[in-house]
Parts: sequence; structure tokens; C-alpha cells
Amino acid sequence: MKILVTGGTGYIGSHTCIQLIQAGYTPVIVDNLCNSKISVLPRIKRIAGHEITFIQADVRNKEAMVDILQGHDIDAVIHFAGLKAVGESVEHPLEYFDDNIHGTLTLIDAMREAMIKRLIFSSSATVYGDPASVPITEDFPTSATNPYGRSKLIVEECLTDFQKANPDWSITLLRYFNPVGSHPSGLLGEDPQGIPNNLMPFVAQVAVGRREFVSIFGNDYPTQDGTGVRDYIHVMDLADGHIAALQHVGPKAGLHVYNLGTGNGYSVLDMIHAFEKACGKTIPHQFASRRSGDIAECWADPSKAKQDLKWSAKRNLEEMTADAWRWQSTNPQGYPED
Ligand code: NAD
Ligand code: UFG
Repeated sequence: MKILVTGGTGYIGSHTCIQLIQAGYTPVIVDNLCNSKISVLPRIKRIAGHEITFIQADVRNKEAMVDILQGHDIDAVIHFAGLKAVGESVEHPLEYFDDNIHGTLTLIDAMREAMIKRLIFSSSATVYGDPASVPITEDFPTSATNPYGRSKLIVEECLTDFQKANPDWSITLLRYFNPVGSHPSGLLGEDPQGIPNNLMPFVAQVAVGRREFVSIFGNDYPTQDGTGVRDYIHVMDLADGHIAALQHVGPKAGLHVYNLGTGNGYSVLDMIHAFEKACGKTIPHQFASRRSGDIAECWADPSKAKQDLKWSAKRNLEEMTADAWRWQSTNPQGYPED
């Protein structure tokens, strides 16, 4: 089966391509390389043992997408392509709405023309806003606290309406919690451009000497140690969640919504201490004020995915930090330029 993977040279997409190949699928990558490097491809090839088809294109180009979908005989689409930095989305909301909303709508339109009716969409736990309680189940109310989150929420709503009007389509919304870690080979990993927004890539860059210390955003939250609590999930487990969705949702028509998280919450200090163990170094850190828009705690109830998709996260915190350190220590500057 051929799967079009938009955003396939990015962090989650590249790891998912590996798991797709392992599971017997043939991924075809489309990426415009706005936030990833072409040098990811030989790494995927090294792990997979063969070439992978890559097309440099923008999902907002409908004609190109129709050509690709038809020309490669695609059976289903996993749509990762989009912009994801919360802070940047506050400064440049139009760019986020254009890439994330217009991009997805164009892709759906191209799929309709090519008569391909199976889509898995990368959504986010951000659609739960500031949840009233934890753990979070899929039926919790949704809201947006920033333009990035709004773009995910709007796309979810558009896809829900679209599926209602086109009941023979199979659309799966996967709400990711906090992906971390890397492929165990150390060949693939997270390679943020500029200063990392997210905790774990920042911690890893401190460990490797690229940055001086970690600022912990708030130590006065109502949590066990005062720092924010999140559901960190190994990116390989997240990748496996997509395979499970392909296998267990299959072509079954409907709108399917799943949390992909572990069900465990770890604090910022837990994560720093776990990383210290993995790298054998002290990670200098300082307490700073809360980051605007952050919530105290957020973790998933992943039981719906367990029941329907027969999927649950298998890799523990030790593997998340060990794999992240292997990637960072062997690729201190991330992927090479080409
Ligand atoms: P990433 O930036 O590493 O990967 C996204 C890829 O999409 C990049 O390779 C980029 O070049 C490509 N891209 C962007 N716009 C495009 C366009 N218009 N046409 C073609 N390619 C385009 O991000 P990631 O962490 O792998 O995230 C993948 C998806 O998962 C995103 O939709 C993101 O919003 C979502 N998500 C990520 C997280 C996270 O913390 N990483 C959490 C929840 C949801
Ligand atoms: N944090 C720090 N210092 C840093 C970075 C983060 O203390 O330098 C703290 C944050 O305050 C938070 C925790 O570490 O308590 C995690 O922060 P991240 O930025 O790594 O992740 P978020 O939970 O804020 O958001 C991430 C993605 C969103 C996505 C969300 C849920 O950035 O896009 O997970 O999936 F929506």
C-alpha cells in the first residue's frame, strides 16, 4: 500500500516513514523543506535499506498535489506538513493560517479530485486548551489559546464537517501529546531551527554545550514540584500510532479521533533529571517566570487508542532521554546542510 506522507522529512514524519517501511507500506514523501533538510533522506535510506520517493512540493499547490496523488497511485495520506511554533504563530498568524488551514483544505480538495478518501491528520493536545482536569479524554471540550492551536482546531472542525458531507471518507484525527526522543540508531532526530521552543531539544542543546542553561518557566504551578507537567511520548511510539491507525481504522468510513499519549505526566524537573542520568552530566537550570499561555498540567487518557487501535506507548522515560542524547551527542549541530 502506498502512503503519501506530507511533511515526511520533518521530525515526526521521518520517524513514521521508517515504521511504515518496517510494517510493509511504501511511503512517498512530499515536503517543501521549509523546516527540514534534504540530508534526512540518505539517513532514512540507511535505516530502511533502500531509496524512498521524495518530491519537493508545497501542499498548497493543488495541481502538483493532484499529479502526485494520481501519478504515484496513492492509497492513503498522512498529513504532517504544517508550521508548529506557538510563539511564532502569535507574531505571524496569517502564515500559520495559510500553511496549516489553507494547506489542509487544498490537500483535501486534491484528494477529492484524485478520488483518494483516507486521511490521517496530525492534530495536537493543544486543542484541549486549558483542560478542567486530567487525564484528558477525547470528548473533553476544545478551545484555542494561540493562532497555532486555532489552526489545528479549525482544521479539525473543517474535516469533521467535510466528513459529514462525504460519509464514505475515512478521516482520523490524531491528537499528539509531547513527542520527544529519536530513532534508536541516532541517525534521525529533532533538529529545530534557531533557539528551540520546546523543553527537550533545549535541554539536549545545553547538555551538548550549545546553550548555557535551561530556564524553567515557572516553579509555582499547583503540581508536585511546582513545575509544569506534560505527557512526553517517544517519537517512535507516536510513529507506531500512525501504523496502528492505518491497520485498525483501515478504510472504515467515519471521523475517528484519538489521543496519542502515554497517560503519564512528568514535570520539567523530572525531565531534566532523567536527561542528566542519560548523558551523565549536570544540566544547569534556573527558575524563570511562567511562559504566557502555558498550563499547569496536561496528560492523556490513551485508553480509546488502546481499545480501538490496539496501540499503547511502549517506550519509557529512560529510552526517551537515552535516544534523544544519542541523537544530540552524535549530531551536535543537527542534520548537515545537504
Ligand atoms: P516539523 O516541522 O519537523 O515537520 C513538518 C514538515 O512539514 C517540515 O519538514 C516542513 O518542511 C514541512 N512543511 C511545512 N509546511 C509545508 C507545506 N506547505 N508543504 C509541504 N511541506 C511543508 O514538525 P513535526 O514536529 O514533525 O510535526 C509534524 C506535525 O505534527 C505538524 O502538523 C505539527 O503541528 C504536529 N504536532 C507536532 C507536535 C510537536 O510537538 N512536534 C505536537 C503536536 C502536533
Ligand atoms: N519549558 C521550560 N523551559 C523551556 C521550554 C519549556 O520550562 O525552555 C516548560 C514549559 O513551560 C512546559 C514544559 O516545559 O511546562 C513543556 O513545554 P514545551 O514547549 O516542550 O511543550 P508544550 O506542552 O508547551 O507544547 C507542545 C508543543 C505544542 C503542542 C503541545 C501539545 O509545542 O505545539 O506540546 O501537544 F500543542
